[in-house]
Order: sequence, then structure tokens, then C-alpha cells
Amino acid sequence: MNIALSPAETLRTALAALLDGLPPRQAAQAVDRLIANYRGETPTDAPILRDRADVAAYAAYRMPATFEAVRSALAAFAGAVPGWTPASHVDVGGGTGAATWAVAAAWDGVRPVTVLDWAEPALALGKELAAASPALSGARWQRARIGSALQIGSTDLVTVSYVLGELTERDRAHVVDAAAGAARSVVVVEPGTPGGYARVIAARDRLIAAGFRVAAPCPHSAACPIVPGEDWCHFSARVSRSSLHRRVKAGSLPYEDEKFSYVAATRLPVTDVSPAPARVVRRPQIRKGQVLLDLCEAEEQLRRHTVTKRHGDLYKAARDADWGDSWPPAEPGNYHEIRQ
Ligand SMILES: C[S@@+](CC[C@H](N)C(=O)[O-])C[C@H]1O[C@@H](n2cnc3c(N)ncnc32)[C@H](O)[C@@H]1O
Repeated sequence: MNIALSPAETLRTALAALLDGLPPRQAAQAVDRLIANYRGETPTDAPILRDRADVAAYAAYRMPATFEAVRSALAAFAGAVPGWTPASHVDVGGGTGAATWAVAAAWDGVRPVTVLDWAEPALALGKELAAASPALSGARWQRARIGSALQIGSTDLVTVSYVLGELTERDRAHVVDAAAGAARSVVVVEPGTPGGYARVIAARDRLIAAGFRVAAPCPHSAACPIVPGEDWCHFSARVSRSSLHRRVKAGSLPYEDEKFSYVAATRLPVTDVSPAPARVVRRPQIRKGQVLLDLCEAEEQLRRHTVTKRHGDLYKAARDADWGDSWPPAEPGNYHEIRQ
């Protein structure tokens, strides 16, 4: 019997097969080098991912986490544009292709996919991994440097995942402007740090200036209500670790939580876009008989809501609500009853 695997399972299997042949000591050394490089000064003049060992280390050490972060961002985006499926996808700074796997997980079907990156070994390994996926085996892996000369062909969706932090401020602007000029929808994902959030907000501003509307995570396209320096908007994606991942990362937990910031913006007609009425922007706090939800609201403000047992079904929904979810759920309940 041939049971079709999900993109996440296929990626896990493909990564395991690829890294099986890599001696654990060599993998560990490559991970150490990678961490040291990423702690160093970025942007760099040349790719950090220089050879196959670097790229294999990236794939083992980081790709499962960037995949889950992008998948989570795309799930929120897809929820805001329920009638839309991208007919084509370009992943800029795509490396080993984590975001292409996340797009395949978010939307069924096969679409033209192009991955652009300046690191040839990353593209080569990404292509090898993608051969295991019916949705990605036909993807084009192209060498391209992000800069003022970057050209992105017209496409439905552009993803820029964990790339802005490796670029100069000018190149960040170039890549966001090029994405805005090429695509109907643009999704930018960064680490969930104050710096990552600041880069996401700068990208958000440029996309709005280019005529895009924010579909997720924000409930609106007005200014972010977070006071810079006081807090940062970020979310969390659970990444289950395979035994191989545990070995390479030398950790014992069966999972880790990847923190990320993101913006998904679109030029789709306003009637096709339904941003969340509000979004849960912190892990909900469950207390005896009540749930505290920190929400970013359509009224351009952050507010804490307390949902208690007396709210009935809504209380049950609040107990199930997760950090990053849209609130209230489409069913059931009457949200206005609990406005405070
Ligand atoms: C942290 S990795 C992220 C890879 C992938 N997008 C992901 O989410 O896993 C950053 C990628 O950006 C690429 N990159 C960095 N600077 C670049 C530049 N100036 N031009 C093209 N690619 C660049 C790197 O080669 C690397 O593959």
C-alpha cells in the first residue's frame, strides 16, 4: 500500500536520508562552524554556506525550524485569504528551500517554483531534497545575488524567509521592493527577536507604501501599536526533533520552540482578504476558571481580555486558543458580549 506522506513528513525523511551518510563528528563540526559564522558580522560579502558540509549542517540544524516558522505564518495568511491559492512561487534567499516546503504544506497542488540564492551548495542540496516531493521536484534553483540588480519574474507569491538579517539596510529595501514589484502576495519571516521584528516592520511599511494590504498577523494595515524598544511582536512554532536532529543539536528534548516574526501582505482585492478580527499575541494564560488573552485588535491597539466560565462556549474556545491564533474563533459565540 502506498500511503502519501505530508510535505512535513517527506521533508523529514529526505533530510534523514541525506544526513545519514554524514559522519556525526563532521556534522557536529560543521554545525559549530555555522553557529560561529552566524554569531559573526552579517551581512557578509560572500555566502556563509560555502560547501556541502556547511549546507548539510544548515539543513539539519536550522531547516526544520525555519520550515515550521514559515508554515505557521502561511497558515495564518491562508486563513485570511481563504479563496486564494498561489499559482506560482518565488523564494528569495531560499537556501535549501525551507519556504518552498512550507508553501507545499499550506496549499495542495503543483505550481511553478523558483528558488533564488547566491550560495550554489545550498541550491544544489535544496534541489536534491526537493526531488522527494511531487510538488517541488520540478522547481528551478537559480543563482542570484540580492542587491540593486535583483530581478524577480512576475509571480503570485514571493517568500523572503530568514534572509533580511543577512543583508545591508539598502539590500533589505531592494529585496522587499523587488518582491512588491513582482508578486501579488509577499510573506517575510524573520527570527522572533527585537531585531527580526524591526526588520519585519520596515518591510511591512515598504509593502504598504507599495499598495499592499496586510493580511496577517496584523488585524489592520495601520501602524503597529507596539512601542519600539518596549516589546516586539513574535510568535512560536513547535519543531519536533528527529533523532538525527537531536544528535546534531546535542539537545535532549523531543521538540524545540522556534520564535519568529512575520508579515504577509497582498494586493488581492479587499473583498478577498479577511484579516483576523484580533490576534493572540502572547501565550494565553490559563487560570482557575478564566483565560487571559493578550490581543492585537482591529482598533489598532493591544488589549488584555479575560474570558471566564460564564462566557460558555467562548471560554472553551479560549482554553484551546494558541499564541498566534485569530480571535474570536469563527464559531461559536458572540464576541461583543465580552468586550471590556
Ligand atoms: C538563514 S538562510 C535562510 C534560508 C532559507 N530561506 C530558510 O528559511 O531556511 C539565509 C539565506 O540567504 C542567502 N543570502 C544571504 N545574503 C544573500 C545575498 N546577498 N544574495 C542572495 N542570497 C543571499 C544565504 O545564502 C542563505 O541561503
